[in-house]
Amino acid sequence: MVVTKICCIGAGYVGGPTCSVIASKCPDVYVTVVDLSQPRIDCWNSKDFNLPIYEPGLKEVVQQCRGRNLFFSTNIDEAINAADIIFISVNTPTKTYGLGKGRAPDLKYIEAAARRIADVATGNKIVVEKSTVPVKAAESIQRILFANMKNGVRFQVLSNPEFLAEGTAINDLMNPDRVLIGGEQSTSGLQAVEKLSWVYEHWIPKENIIKTNTWSSELSKLTANAFLAQRISSINAMSAVCEATGADVGEVAHAIGTDSRLGPKFLQASLGFGGSCFQKDVLNLVYLCEALNLPEVAAYWQQVIDMNDYQRRRFATKVISCLFNTITDKTITILGFAFKKNTGDTRESSSIYMCKYLMDEGAKLHIYDPQVEHKQIIADLSHRDISEQSERGDSKMATPPVETEKEKVNKLVKIFEDPYEALKGAHAFVVCTEWDEFKDLDYLRIYNSMLKPAFAFDGRRILNYDALTNIGFHVETVGHKTLNNCLPITP
Ligand code: UDX
Ligand code: UDX
Repeated sequence: MVVTKICCIGAGYVGGPTCSVIASKCPDVYVTVVDLSQPRIDCWNSKDFNLPIYEPGLKEVVQQCRGRNLFFSTNIDEAINAADIIFISVNTPTKTYGLGKGRAPDLKYIEAAARRIADVATGNKIVVEKSTVPVKAAESIQRILFANMKNGVRFQVLSNPEFLAEGTAINDLMNPDRVLIGGEQSTSGLQAVEKLSWVYEHWIPKENIIKTNTWSSELSKLTANAFLAQRISSINAMSAVCEATGADVGEVAHAIGTDSRLGPKFLQASLGFGGSCFQKDVLNLVYLCEALNLPEVAAYWQQVIDMNDYQRRRFATKVISCLFNTITDKTITILGFAFKKNTGDTRESSSIYMCKYLMDEGAKLHIYDPQVEHKQIIADLSHRDISEQSERGDSKMATPPVETEKEKVNKLVKIFEDPYEALKGAHAFVVCTEWDEFKDLDYLRIYNSMLKPAFAFDGRRILNYDALTNIGFHVETVGHKTLNNCLPITP
């Protein structure tokens, strides 16, 4: 069982941390992470370890291994050729065009990686899908490889989905609940599964490595993300009921979470889930079910996404209605832009949706996030898509057609390095990301610097409701009824 070299195509949020941990746990294996993007690889190789992604604990692992048995390069062909095992960790965004637009995953990068492997490989390879893909994608990769292989080179394709969550990626990789490996149930397929398992056995107990057929593995990844997203949508649905009745969603979550059949995790009501995976993977599942002629199953999972959209819009509507149904020219401070704490990633962040909805109503936004780069915030808010969605869904949030998004962003958005500066003179603030530092801000100082009445909207339930109310804030929290409830928007 000898694996001496691993190559990973895609040096992103998945490929980078995964391979860094493999290198640290397997000093006898050479790991090379390759990427098309030279600037990204330059960051991974930077002298001062100014890595392209922020992930707690990652820098230390890279410092330990880089140059020893961990390498970052743009020389994709050389790394493919040298490797026994090749991970494919390129991104699989939702298609923005053509068949399946807005729902199906775009597999063009996966296909390009497979073709490249077939083109340059001169020896036998195990090709591992790390990216989340639709069920039966391994079969497509296998067909591409077989149709294009040269000189009798043999390939085995495995599915080895990633379960890491951003912000806790290093711990998730070092101490995973389980590792899942799916492979063809043939002699050579099972041998390939054992080879990959050998890599993980360097630090993971054998009994925690689950081996299945390829499709079970692919579908398990989609199912895991769909179930997690569904839990959030379920508790968010209950948060609306809580706000209408006087129950508190935190108390409800605690009460049900102590039932060992349900468990306490993923019951945190919020202004909606974000991130690169949940929405994409649930949409992917919906699309798959439709393609399999299972419309009832498709509709069931679609509701998870619909509930998330509803929650985002519902919270934005609450902000608007509390501010006397008009926010034009009012300053609203957005605390947090990343899709969750401890990451600089903004993909599908609910903050983007919140900002867009408020901008569509003419609000001036002051934005503060401790990690997200300013240019990323501007780029996210300058995309048209969300306003287009809101135009379709809710005429109250329609975009005036005359302005381009960029002009609007320039006019309405200011980004700050300091939260207190961002809050000065604001009518309201909205907590969109649950960064720990937001819990410890000096809210009396903030209250004194804001316009009155001062409004606090907690989309993450991290602030001390009573303390803020005692200071004088009008506080609105997801899943908690405010006594002096805001009037609904008049039609
Ligand atoms: C991952 C997964 O792999 C995806 O399936 C999952 O559902 C979301 O997260 P992630 O690592 O987060 O992707 O994506 P990203 O950070 O965008 O990294 C992908 C990298 O692949 C980028 O650096 C990109 O430059 C690189 N890439 C993309 C290539 O090297 N070659 C390509 O053909 C395409
Ligand atoms: C997710 C899965 O957890 C991971 O296993 C998979 O490999 C990739 O997708 P990630 O998107 O990085 O990971 O983060 P996660 O912690 O799952 O959070 C996703 C979103 O849900 C965030 O916006 C988060 O704030 C939100 N969330 C999470 C809630 O709103 N409530 C919760 O109780 C948990």
